[in-house]
Amino acid sequence: MIILDKLSKSFNGIKVLDDLNIKFEDKKITVVIGRSGGGKSVMLKHIIGLMQPDSGRVLINGLDINLLKKKELNELRKKFGMVFQDGALLDSLNVFENVAFPLRRHMKISENEIKKKVFSVLEDVGLEGHDKKMPSEISGGMRKRVGVARALILNPEIMLFDEPTTGLDPIMSDVINNLIISMHDKFNFTGIIISHDIAGAYKTGDIIAMLYDGKIIEYGPSEDFKNSVNPVVKQFVSGSMTGPISI
Ligand SMILES: Nc1ncnc2c1ncn2[C@@H]1O[C@H](COP(=O)(O)OP(=O)(O)OP(=O)(O)O)[C@@H](O)[C@H]1O
Ligand SMILES: [Mg+2]
Repeated sequence: MIILDKLSKSFNGIKVLDDLNIKFEDKKITVVIGRSGGGKSVMLKHIIGLMQPDSGRVLINGLDINLLKKKELNELRKKFGMVFQDGALLDSLNVFENVAFPLRRHMKISENEIKKKVFSVLEDVGLEGHDKKMPSEISGGMRKRVGVARALILNPEIMLFDEPTTGLDPIMSDVINNLIISMHDKFNFTGIIISHDIAGAYKTGDIIAMLYDGKIIEYGPSEDFKNSVNPVVKQFVSGSMTGPISI
């Protein structure tokens, strides 16, 4: 279980996270939605220890990750797979080498085993036969799938997706959402998805949470979330200009 406990973070005197509390349940997919610039990526970076809070704690299986030594944090990071907002592929490496990268870095295994694992995960994400292409030669949706394959290659217990469908057409968004669901069925990870995409959130999420004003203002199973009476949630979900959210 991952718990964010009274997490606060400011930049230049502006509070981005303000005593934020949330728990991410094991093996479930939690989708966190919220406005652009609302602090979703900042929250995610705290979970993998890329940012440190001003106050509050990040607890992973009961351990406060900010009390870990560098070596312990590196060990812990192997449990995480992260799909970055922009894919974050290495432009000078082909698809195969991008996916193989974490294996070469973290595991001492033979070239044959690397090949087996990379080809297997490329097949999982529907990219068989594309292994020799360079990132510049493939579409945005394919790049996202390479990012998912690379995040999955170490068989992580926890998968973090930062806006996996932003910038994709509705059909490719659906492909990526279905991929997340089928990979979750197969690998059974704890999933955290950051998204603006309400339809995708309902489809992929067991739990949906909304981040607003530095806090989690709504949290619950997607059915409950749909029926939220919170005016902020209602405005965000309906995408209306009028309501309590200032523009
Ligand atoms: N390293 C940093 N230094 C200073 N300010 C930062 C830093 N990282 C984020 N911020 C600020 O924190 C706020 C929240 O940023 P964040 O990237 O978390 O938003 P977001 O909710 O992920 O938005 P989007 O949906 O557009 O990705 C923004 O105002 C941003 O400028
Ligand atoms: Mg972001």
